[in-house]
Amino acid sequence: VKRVRVRSLQQAKERGEKWAMLTSYDQYTAALFDGIGIPALLIGDSAANNVYGYETTIPISMEELLPLVAAVARSTERTLVVADLPFGSYEAGPEQALASAVRFMKAGAHAVKLEGGVRMKAQIAALTSAGIPVMAHIGFTPQSEHAVGGYRVAGRGDAHAVAEAGAFAVVLEMVMSDVAARITRELAIPTIGIGAGSDTDAQVLVWQDMAGLRQGPAPRFVKRYADLASVLTEAATRYADEVREGVFPAPEHGF
Ligand code: KIV
Ligand code: NA
Repeated sequence: VKRVRVRSLQQAKERGEKWAMLTSYDQYTAALFDGIGIPALLIGDSAANNVYGYETTIPISMEELLPLVAAVARSTERTLVVADLPFGSYEAGPEQALASAVRFMKAGAHAVKLEGGVRMKAQIAALTSAGIPVMAHIGFTPQSEHAVGGYRVAGRGDAHAVAEAGAFAVVLEMVMSDVAARITRELAIPTIGIGAGSDTDAQVLVWQDMAGLRQGPAPRFVKRYADLASVLTEAATRYADEVREGVFPAPEHGF
């Protein structure tokens, strides 16, 4: 089985083929998504909310993400494994970014992602020249929520800056659809949208959002393709009921 390379994602753009990215943080989802041909999996710092129970992505550390990166890398054969640099692991400068990215690569990642446009040019250039493919992330960038606030309308300058610095792809989060379409036309590298309309080269969703495992109101850009929360609620409830009622385990489950 051949690994997806950053070059193949660029060739998909040249052929006009759209593709889907998902997050993954564990063995079973990684192997399953790899098996259906998802070409890139992101170990997002969204593990903060979706694995570790934090309110935001600010607190998550390299140490918390590294074992998840290693698990996803070990559990896939084909997908490009992209590790999301957490808040505080790259902003200080190219040297800090390189040190953090190297840790992810040694854990099995094939590329890293970082948030920021023009302000991250030096980091993107340093990682790229060290042989580490970089996925940039502009528009709404959750790690700097406290500084930039919510919705960002602009983004073309940032998009061109990350492409010039050497990024192999760029996530556009909650960028206005017409701006995202224009960025997608202007850049040679693939754009990956989340809440950025239908004209980007690819899309990304957090897998627990896509599959309806997370309960409660979801952002407008989420579409739930399943109701895993209900499936799991029913299964766990029946299991607990059957144990209480003495129905499980049955004779055939014993030795
Ligand atoms: O951490 C994450 O899940 C992300 C994607 C939503 C792009 O950054
Ligand atoms: Na992220």
